[in-house]
Amino acid sequence: MELTAVVTGAARGIGRSVVERLRAAGYRVVAVDVSPAVADLAESGWVVPMAADVTADPTPAAAIGRATGEFGRLDLLVNNAARFLRRPILDTSDGDFDALFAVNVRPVFRFTRAALPALTETRGCVVNTASISGLIGVPNQSVYAMTKGAIVQLTRQLAIEYAARGVRVNAVAPGAVDTGFMDEARAADPDPAASLAVTLGNHPIGRMSTPDEVARAIVFLAAPESAGITGTILSVDGGYVAR
Ligand SMILES: NC(=O)c1ccc[n+]([C@@H]2O[C@H](COP(=O)([O-])OP(=O)(O)OC[C@H]3O[C@@H](n4cnc5c(N)ncnc54)[C@H](O)[C@@H]3O)[C@@H](O)[C@H]2O)c1
Repeated sequence: MELTAVVTGAARGIGRSVVERLRAAGYRVVAVDVSPAVADLAESGWVVPMAADVTADPTPAAAIGRATGEFGRLDLLVNNAARFLRRPILDTSDGDFDALFAVNVRPVFRFTRAALPALTETRGCVVNTASISGLIGVPNQSVYAMTKGAIVQLTRQLAIEYAARGVRVNAVAPGAVDTGFMDEARAADPDPAASLAVTLGNHPIGRMSTPDEVARAIVFLAAPESAGITGTILSVDGGYVAR
């Protein structure tokens, strides 16, 4: 039996590492990303790349349909695609708010709703990529933090709603991870080197996590070893929220 996953935000960063880890664990993967770079993942028959915007109305059903249609089943949904916004609230427009919720929250709801019938058949899992910003206060991230808080709460809600149906729902909450996501935000700072120093100082292990470290946590939460874990928000943050 070959397990099958759908991963969003799969072209680079954490999502790409998740695809690589899932392939190593024997999964077939539908890899969704708005970036055409997702096509690079097509070199084996194990990954179906799908260049699509998660905010587009047809994308969730199409992605889940490709998993169930081409591979016959769905065992895992990883809701990982998101955008970052670091901005003081007084500079944050209504448009910023709507745009961030449109990418970071609405597709998580819509992908999960589309996936749950197939996941109920396989007694599968959802793993969401939240953030420490959804757990604690971080300056100048009000709307981003709200989007991640929404994901934390959906994770807990659905863990309870689907526990009796055998579907587990968990999330990871990364601290800073060494991906383009943070690099781009930092490049816009007046002093990127000082900004990096503050970030590293907030992480007791003195470094960012790697995308692969987060991917391993996601794959663990999907694995049989975590059969007793649901509704958990697993921090992968070098001790950030433990301070
Ligand atoms: N990097 C960090 O420091 C950090 C920290 C905490 C949480 N996270 C979370 O980890 C997840 C992955 O982040 P990352 O660091 O790998 O970022 P990344 O920017 O490297 O990768 C995100 C991927 O999502 C894709 N994406 C964005 N909008 C999309 C859309 N509308 N449709 C389809 N694909 C879309 C991008 O093209 C990109 O390939 C996100 O949920 C992010 O909030 C990241």
